[in-house]
Amino acid sequence: MSITAIYPGTFDPITRGHLHIVRRACRIVDKLIVSVSENRNKNPIFSVEERVAMAKADIAAMNGLECEVEVQGFETLLIHHARDCGASHIVRGLRAVSDFEYEFHMTGMNLRLNPDIDSIFLMTSEKWQFVSSSFVKEISRLDGDISKFVTARTRKALANKKSPA
Ligand code: COA
Repeated sequence: MSITAIYPGTFDPITRGHLHIVRRACRIVDKLIVSVSENRNKNPIFSVEERVAMAKADIAAMNGLECEVEVQGFETLLIHHARDCGASHIVRGLRAVSDFEYEFHMTGMNLRLNPDIDSIFLMTSEKWQFVSSSFVKEISRLDGDISKFVTARTRKALANKKSPA
């Protein structure tokens, strides 16, 4: 049986922690769709088109991925998007116990809405445990070094947001 999963998030911007989850999820599924949520609630600094393009570029530069990977933007309910993609699973990364409660509620609700789509949780490796897109944006805005957390391409995109050419 071939497994298609979505890996949803806001990805504003995508970090090395997210990319590590992509690599690991690929060892489990046959096809992974990195699903970039419009998520206006979070007031993203990058448009969904920009976030999709950044994720595509970072993933294209990854060697040795063990599954097919696509990147798509979406504005619908997560489970509707999963259904439209033909996905049977949702991949989520867990960084800390504090993530658990949110994920617990979200998974519970998603299962209620569609019991046929199950979630897979991957523990984020300790290297990326404290990384978040918000921290990365703040550190960049205050001229700190974010090179450990995002690719050079994303670093440049963040720098351009600060002082557009
Ligand atoms: N490495 C680095 N950072 C990570 C990470 C990892 N492995 N895993 C999570 N994060 C960070 C993210 O950068 C993000 O940081 P931020 O809050 O500073 O932006 C934070 O952890 C949590 O984000 P993420 O996992 O991307 O989830 P999200 O809250 O941005 O996205 C959706 C949540 C998109 C999945 C959810 O809002 C959704 O499903 N939306 C669609 C509408 C819907 O169906 N709603 C009903 C749900 S029941």
